[in-house]
Amino acid sequence: MRIDLKGQVILVTGAPGGIGEAIVRKLAECGATVALHYNQKAGLANRLAVEVGNDSKPFHADLSEPARGVPLFREVLDAYEKVDTLVNNAGVYLRSPNDKDLNGWLADWNRTIAVNLTAAGVLSREAVNYFKRAGGGRIIHIASRAAFRGDYEEYFAYAASKGGMVALSKTIARTCGKYNVKSFVIAPGFVRTPIVDEYIKQHGDESIMKDLALSEMTRPEDVAPAVAFLASGLMDHATGCSIDINAGSYMR
Ligand SMILES: NC(=O)c1ccc[n+]([C@@H]2O[C@H](COP(=O)([O-])OP(=O)(O)OC[C@H]3O[C@@H](n4cnc5c(N)ncnc54)[C@H](OP(=O)(O)O)[C@@H]3O)[C@@H](O)[C@H]2O)c1
Repeated sequence: MRIDLKGQVILVTGAPGGIGEAIVRKLAECGATVALHYNQKAGLANRLAVEVGNDSKPFHADLSEPARGVPLFREVLDAYEKVDTLVNNAGVYLRSPNDKDLNGWLADWNRTIAVNLTAAGVLSREAVNYFKRAGGGRIIHIASRAAFRGDYEEYFAYAASKGGMVALSKTIARTCGKYNVKSFVIAPGFVRTPIVDEYIKQHGDESIMKDLALSEMTRPEDVAPAVAFLASGLMDHATGCSIDINAGSYMR
């Protein structure tokens, strides 16, 4: 079986991040044109777009202001005249202890929900409205094991944001299937990327490794193939599903 994404335009948010970059490379390797959304890493996004080819291009938006998802989606549509798949991947993992002062804790909460959930919601809304006109499309949400297992005490907002993302995906799948819109979740456990640097600095690799059934921590390259598979259409009848990629650390 070969996964062929030739002719597909796929918008990936957080494209120059750890998991984002692996997703971009895998999608482009399968022939897709990738719209690489970035926030702070313009240089990296530009270089990656040129490197993967297939007419892939970078697009900027700071999704801590979720409404920016609207012009982002429209710029991609203007550039390519279509979008086949949206990958909601951008996210933050802000440590926010419960003894932090309320204003600081609320600022962390609001930023986490804005980037991880509200922006994904705004982009999904744009995508669904467009997909209904265009005859269909797919949305792939990069959520987290935390949505199902729960997270650590300093990450209330993160777990809540990812749980919201799972509910969002199921709702899109339930209500928009008749319009040929499919929605999926990928739920990684710990993956070695910059987002978990602070956690690893504080707790060490061992605290992660002891939970794994496998003997290696998941790498971004272990997550990316599932995105290509879901984008290909071969998994459309699994719409609404969540795929766990967590090295056997949590089995639902
Ligand atoms: N690594 C893990 O252990 C793990 C586990 C489960 C789920 N995930 C999820 O996987 C996704 C990718 O994370 P990662 O591990 O690849 O982390 P990463 O390397 O830190 O990448 C995160 C990406 O999100 C973007 N982002 C953050 N704030 C943004 C904002 N305000 N506006 C727009 N984009 C923003 C970042 O761009 P800038 O840096 O330019 O702001 C970056 O490209 C996230 O949704 C994360 O929750 C990760």
